[in-house]
Amino acid sequence: MRISVIGCGYVGLVSGACLAAIGHEVVCADNDVSKISRLQNGEVPIFEDHLDQVIAGARKAGRLSFADSVAEAVHTGDAVFICVGTPPLENGDADLSAIENVARVIASVAWSAKLVVEKSTVPVQTGQQLKRALAIYGKNHGARFHVASNPEFLREGTAIADFLHPDRIVIGVEDAESERLLREIYQPILDGSFTCPIHGSQCPPLGPAQFVVTTINSAELIKHASNSFLALKISYANLVSDLCEKLGANVDEVTRAMGMDPRIGPQFLRAGIGFGGFCLPKDVQAFIRLAEKAGVDFAMLREAERINKNRIHAFVERVHHALWIVKEKKIGALGLAFKANTDDIRFSPAIEVIGQLRSEGARISATDPQAIERARAVFPDLNFSSDPYEIANGADALLILTDWPEYKSLDWPRIQRSMLRPLLLDGRNLFEAGKMESLGFEYYSFGRPDRVAISAAKP
Ligand code: UGA
Repeated sequence: MRISVIGCGYVGLVSGACLAAIGHEVVCADNDVSKISRLQNGEVPIFEDHLDQVIAGARKAGRLSFADSVAEAVHTGDAVFICVGTPPLENGDADLSAIENVARVIASVAWSAKLVVEKSTVPVQTGQQLKRALAIYGKNHGARFHVASNPEFLREGTAIADFLHPDRIVIGVEDAESERLLREIYQPILDGSFTCPIHGSQCPPLGPAQFVVTTINSAELIKHASNSFLALKISYANLVSDLCEKLGANVDEVTRAMGMDPRIGPQFLRAGIGFGGFCLPKDVQAFIRLAEKAGVDFAMLREAERINKNRIHAFVERVHHALWIVKEKKIGALGLAFKANTDDIRFSPAIEVIGQLRSEGARISATDPQAIERARAVFPDLNFSSDPYEIANGADALLILTDWPEYKSLDWPRIQRSMLRPLLLDGRNLFEAGKMESLGFEYYSFGRPDRVAISAAKP
């Protein structure tokens, strides 16, 4: 099928590349001319595992192209996927102006029937507004529009695999024709008939994706409700972790056993400095606003947000407790991205922690496998190095702020020897306390019994 993808941000590029990889003819458009010319020159403007490879493969096969004219792209597609940004406004509402702009362009240039699919994360009832806008601005053209919602559940860092091997594909539709078209679009994934561009014939042995057909309102709600639930789960685990500290239990043991219950599940129970990124925090805010407007008091989400903000404070307090005076201390930060396998620092807890300690006069050096360039834009005069050993050398304390797996395999005895004081504050519970203590670190993490305090309390 011929598909237009409008918006070459993260969701648009991943969706466009993957739709082309499963056999469709895709044109991705954006009105950012410089972004499109970089893409046309083979540059991929975001870091996402396998994305460059999937884009290159699809372009080589002649199934993926980039256009700087949204109108031109709209002409090409039988289906138009709207993937533009919906950033938060001051009041927490999602800013839907980009969606409306695209709707106006579609309505004014389309002369054949189009299936218009909203993939951007939007509040419930946006589909209804979209339908209305298409009808108003397209009234002189006579093209027929079908509107559908098709929320994405892509995680940064694993987005390509998430798209190609999803657990569910949710579509919100109002008519059989839209359902038929979307089923056709996703059929290669549903029946596993495409050649996987990242695994070849060695795809992970997952069950078949569920194809979930709902109303448009439900599909829109599913996305916000899912992200908000994930946020709740993390905040819950973080409070359990606080309780573990107070009562001498171990959060790893508690959440591991909790997660074995299939009704709870093991994921998103990792305690630490909390959730960040451009999705969970903004979607929680938008969901709270949506509920407020609908007259439903979703206080539990406000609480999850509050608990999450407190994590930064709790971690910085821990640094104070361990270091006593922060001013002029040399502190090394391992991690800047909001989570591993991404260069994204938007709403990153790591950036928040660094910002607070810097404002107190700490001398911070920071490293990250991918996010240094982006962080430099936020902290132009901070000392960055791609070498974690350099960051640790002579430091009074080392902070783990992002859960990059490569940090596990660093030469920790070497780091211990090189630090002025071998103080390690692990904001992501990446290490086992006993192991780091046996290497000679003074080690603090979240929700494990504080060995220093416990031994001091012994008679
Ligand atoms: C999230 C959702 O997981 C995706 O399903 C959704 O499609 C996406 O938002 C979106 O709306 O587009 P993402 O923002 O990539 O994906 O990140 P997550 O993997 O959800 O992690 C969010 C934050 O929670 C990170 O800061 C991470 O470190 C933190 N986290 C995660 C924890 O603190 N503990 C955990 O147990 C899990």
